[in-house]
Amino acid sequence: MAGNWKMYKTPSETRAFFDAFEPLVADVTDCDIALCPPYLSLEAAVAATEGSNIAIGAQNLYPGKEGAFTGEISGHMLSAVGCKYVIVAHSERREYFNESEADVVKKVRAALEYSLTPIVCVGEKLQDRESGNTETVLGGQFDGGLAPLTPEEFSKVVIAYEPVWAIGTGRTATPEIAQATHKFLRSKVEAKFGAEAAAATRILYGGSVKPDNVKKLMSEDDIDGALVGGASLDPKSFAAIVKFQA
Ligand code: 13P
Repeated sequence: MAGNWKMYKTPSETRAFFDAFEPLVADVTDCDIALCPPYLSLEAAVAATEGSNIAIGAQNLYPGKEGAFTGEISGHMLSAVGCKYVIVAHSERREYFNESEADVVKKVRAALEYSLTPIVCVGEKLQDRESGNTETVLGGQFDGGLAPLTPEEFSKVVIAYEPVWAIGTGRTATPEIAQATHKFLRSKVEAKFGAEAAAATRILYGGSVKPDNVKKLMSEDDIDGALVGGASLDPKSFAAIVKFQA
């Protein structure tokens, strides 16, 4: 269960979040918990969660170790401050920062080089779904961003299916729609990397996940976890999501 804070929370707000959140999930042993604060709050998050069952991730990275790339942050730096995960190609990055499938491949490899687990986002827009093009769009994202990886590289990737029309809109995909789409993605993994890889791949759902809809979503066979935006900003609501408690 991962939280993506997007451009929210300063270091002091981050410390306050973990003071409240950690005790609420201290007894959780059956799922991996990760939070992805903005870059400037990563160190505060890592320090606050040391020795706990909570891992920290970043929301983006720039491929390469270091260099003349003004304003960018590398996987090497994220790993050095204690990150374990990094989100790659969130739809907001695809939309506002023109990230392409070629970037996905480079960023995934850069993450793996520095021992970060990439959480790679895919998802269709409303017009894609309404025009019956969901599988074409997702298939293209898979073929361009994930299929070029080696089986060894792919085995370390987490996929997040985030339908763009469900992000921040309160309009969650129904469990049936999410399940059918996850199943399609798993079939793409199977066709490219084999049945064993397909069974082992973790596919998270993201898009208006809340305490009151998480349980149904998670009861679906092919939904392995959630990538949560807005509801991960509040310690009580994210703890409830982690524990599937409405
Ligand atoms: P919301 O949970 O706010 O819809 O955001 C989902 C998301 O984009 C997580 O990466």
